[in-house]
Amino acid sequence: MKRLVMTGLIMILALGGLFAQGNVEKLDIGLAMPETHVERWKRDGAALLDAAEAKGYKAETAFGDADQSKQNQQIQDFITKGAKLIVIGSVNEGVVSVVSDAADDDVIVIAYDRLITGSDDYDYYITFDNFKVGQFQGMAIEEALQLKSATAADPKYITLFAGSPTDNNANYFFDGAMSVLRPYVNSGVVRLVGPAPLDSSSSDFTRIATENWRADVAKTRMENLLGNDAKSVVLDAVLAPNDTLARAIIEALSTDEKYNSVDTLPVVTGQDGEVASIQYIRDGKQYMTVFKDTRNLAAAAIELADALIKGETPSIAGARLDKESYHTGKKLVTSYLLEPVNVTRENYQAVMIDSGFYAASEIE
Ligand code: BGC
Repeated sequence: MKRLVMTGLIMILALGGLFAQGNVEKLDIGLAMPETHVERWKRDGAALLDAAEAKGYKAETAFGDADQSKQNQQIQDFITKGAKLIVIGSVNEGVVSVVSDAADDDVIVIAYDRLITGSDDYDYYITFDNFKVGQFQGMAIEEALQLKSATAADPKYITLFAGSPTDNNANYFFDGAMSVLRPYVNSGVVRLVGPAPLDSSSSDFTRIATENWRADVAKTRMENLLGNDAKSVVLDAVLAPNDTLARAIIEALSTDEKYNSVDTLPVVTGQDGEVASIQYIRDGKQYMTVFKDTRNLAAAAIELADALIKGETPSIAGARLDKESYHTGKKLVTSYLLEPVNVTRENYQAVMIDSGFYAASEIE
């Protein structure tokens, strides 16, 4: 008798298992990240997934490999799987068609880190204060080159790089940096070497922009500059928009005999606090980075998602609410801005290691 009961139980369990397999659980939150060739996005993807699951949501992360059609497919899959909300760090504006599909299906979209331009099909954007990121980069150059006391008779030479021309953030980073550097260019204290846009709306901006934030593109451009416009000057600084590009630029600079030692390399800026750049900063090869704690951005994005899914009014701790600054070209979106942190040789230990973001052993 006992055996019969057991066999019956096992059969019920087995059938239950089969049933559960056929009955695919619905997705709650889709997490669409743009790429993995820039280190941070893997961390964003993982932190978002953790935060969503910690709140009891069924979530999934996908990476678009800097290919908008691939990412659109991934977002379409999230919609098909029944997602209630999708967090999107887009590749470029080509994402608008799937954002519109999401809206048609009443799926909420949050633009994550990068503003989705050209769309009026979503209402929320969460990011870091991108203009401030650029200001930190500009201020680092101002300080390192002592621009306040420099003169036009003995000018400083700076070359400009910007991020992807299809990433709205790249404009903000550049405009933030140039808000600090522009007066020095106008007074002749700074001489720009190579294309010299003074803000992101200048037609020359595309000449300093770096398609899809690709390191090889920045490296080749730096090499070309060294053989041409920068041939007969000694560069004092290079404005680099993020760490991935900063290291590619430093690699190109290091092959030039003018810059082949740590002491002769120009000041190079960065952003993201990537492991390799923290090592460069420690070694004096890269001057600074701007740390944007992706753990905080991910946690804040999921807090926002949670409130929106539940139909509650969001109140996001640690983020500044801004309803006036971010316009998609079609509407103003409600934005939440987190604070970036300036990192140099002086504070990298405290900001990047003591904070638990990296283990000391990672910065070898
Ligand atoms: C992000 C940066 C990142 C860059 C390249 C930007 O939109 O804000 O943190 O370095 O994309 O992935």
